[in-house]
Amino acid sequence: MKHDIGIIRPPMRDADVTLRGGSAGAADLARIRKGLLTLHTLELMAANIYRCQIGSGRTELDRALVAAMCNEMTHHQDFQVKLYEHGWRPSPFRWAYWIVGWCLGTFSRLRGPKAILKTGVWVETKAVHHYSELLGRIPWDPETRAVIEKDQADEYGHIERWKGMLRDA
Ligand SMILES: [Fe+2]
Ligand SMILES: [Fe+2]
Repeated sequence: MKHDIGIIRPPMRDADVTLRGGSAGAADLARIRKGLLTLHTLELMAANIYRCQIGSGRTELDRALVAAMCNEMTHHQDFQVKLYEHGWRPSPFRWAYWIVGWCLGTFSRLRGPKAILKTGVWVETKAVHHYSELLGRIPWDPETRAVIEKDQADEYGHIERWKGMLRDA
């Protein structure tokens, strides 16, 4: 695999923050903006799902959920940085995704470990398809594309982890 998904929060240097979008045309910029807004809000939802799924049992599942939450917070941060690098702001309606994440996370936790794992597989499978679609049709700059590809690799890793834990459950 090209990406090390064992790194859940890759290092970032001051010089990695760059003002972007200067050379892109208006139509491409509109597509890039829409794609970043989508990714930013969906990652907010993902971080909230895992945050609300963490229990107090101090089990291996709880540990894995904390790691997944941290990883999704990194993804959310990645796209927030990319939005502001382009001179844009996050969606003012992202609170709706926060609420959806809270509902999915809380209600799956109440239904038990298998529901937690099945919700994870379902959400992450949707996420990797979304990522593939956005990678395929939007003309990302190379650094932004690399970030999206790493984050998609992380989502594949989440699917594998939850599927493995479901098999053992
Ligand atoms: Fe993510
Ligand atoms: Fe994920």
